[in-house]
Amino acid sequence: MSHPVQAAFPADFLWGAATAAYQVEGAFDRDGKGVSVQDAKNHCNAFHDTSVTSDHYHRFREDVALMKELGLKSYRFSIAWTRIYPDGVTLNQPGIAFYHQLIDVLLENDITPLITLYHFDHPQALQERYSGWYSDRMIDDFLRFAETCFRSFGDRVRHFMTICESNNVVLYPDLIGGVPQGVEVETWRFQVSRVMALANARVIKLCRQLLPQASIGPCIGYAVAYPATCAPEDVLAALNEDEFRTFYPLDLLCLGRQNPAVVSFFARRGLDIRLPPDELAEIGSVKPDFIAFNYYQSDVAKHCPEESRQQQPDFNPDGQQGGFTYPAFPGLYAGDSNPYLPRNDWDWEIDPVGLRIACRRLYDRYQLPLMITENGLGARDTLADGEIADLYRIDYLQKHLVQMRLAMAEGVPVLGYYAWSFMDVMSTSNGYGKRYGFVYVDREDKDLKTLKRFKKASFYWYQNVIESQGSALFTTEQESFR
Ligand code: BG6
Repeated sequence: MSHPVQAAFPADFLWGAATAAYQVEGAFDRDGKGVSVQDAKNHCNAFHDTSVTSDHYHRFREDVALMKELGLKSYRFSIAWTRIYPDGVTLNQPGIAFYHQLIDVLLENDITPLITLYHFDHPQALQERYSGWYSDRMIDDFLRFAETCFRSFGDRVRHFMTICESNNVVLYPDLIGGVPQGVEVETWRFQVSRVMALANARVIKLCRQLLPQASIGPCIGYAVAYPATCAPEDVLAALNEDEFRTFYPLDLLCLGRQNPAVVSFFARRGLDIRLPPDELAEIGSVKPDFIAFNYYQSDVAKHCPEESRQQQPDFNPDGQQGGFTYPAFPGLYAGDSNPYLPRNDWDWEIDPVGLRIACRRLYDRYQLPLMITENGLGARDTLADGEIADLYRIDYLQKHLVQMRLAMAEGVPVLGYYAWSFMDVMSTSNGYGKRYGFVYVDREDKDLKTLKRFKKASFYWYQNVIESQGSALFTTEQESFR
């Protein structure tokens, strides 16, 4: 296969893969760790069991050896807040010791750590004390945790992300502890995004003071919105989706301004979301070093008249195509499927070109370097005779990486790419029935089995891509990785 853009990637390109603490570590109550909102949530969920997940806490040395064999240049992981501050306030040294060991072993293997400070798992104690991110009190508690991370790990870690997907967590309140009784969901959403924006700004400022050499940025999930048709109402609906879901939070975090269309939409409904000028100025005084974004799929938006019924989006729990519930936000947009794109079993549409569009849109608007911090295909993998022939994943990743490279050729600075996920982890919405990793973990939702690790076909493929500094993307035949 030949391709117009075959020039090598920059020598310092961060070829990476990612995980998050509550999805991979297990050991949910070991060595003083406190209960997180994820631990609390999983007790009423058939598959969401954080007690063991992929047992990375006990097997991290074996896992880092696999990262080394894969050739990873960088590993993105999150710090479990509840290992460091089990109740949000009291320091727990054994939790710090765990991450010291993980970081040291990564560095011994020439793997650059990228730390996510918050990936959906704050202490349940803070949720019970003051409803977590709904309260301004969260800012100081998050700052204390971040300061401990900077002081403990900042001598060896140069790259940090603040809050993972602050835009998506407000869309799915149950992901982070839910909306307190008696509070309107829209009121909750804007309060949480305000508190997160202030926390993000103060943490970045603190990082600059303590670690002037480090780079730090926020993270969002971006599903590029396409109009369902070229009818102007649908084009407007797609613009609404982009502005509400992605540009409102990013404008705030990167430009220190509130998107006027969003402000006016809520003003018309009697909700004044304008921030006090001093808060806006404080948020705007901090410019991140990069924008991290997670990309899995694109979206379709169509006109949604004011009189329509509101519908919150809902995941497809069974993995049968057609089971996804599309959102409908009257006066803004309604979601729909895209007839031009294939999809996985959970209805996530597969759109490599959308990644290029996302890179172009984000860079054009914010003029900040980008990091793609999650991208991957959720699938049911089959272990047969010790092998996993995940050619569908190779196909997905290869096409996305080519489109990312094209965006780079078009002038977008992309600092790194982190596939989701390094190894199989507990999927946030679908447990172990849906896997993403390069490394298979031998367990099922309700059966821990051996927890042994197996390298998938995609492992060898990515190894070759990294080793060739990306040029194998344009030459490899998938069949050779079977
Ligand atoms: C991202 C999250 O939004 O999506 C990850 O940051 C998550 O935590 C990933 O695992 C994939 O989603 P899911 O629901 O398939 O696990």
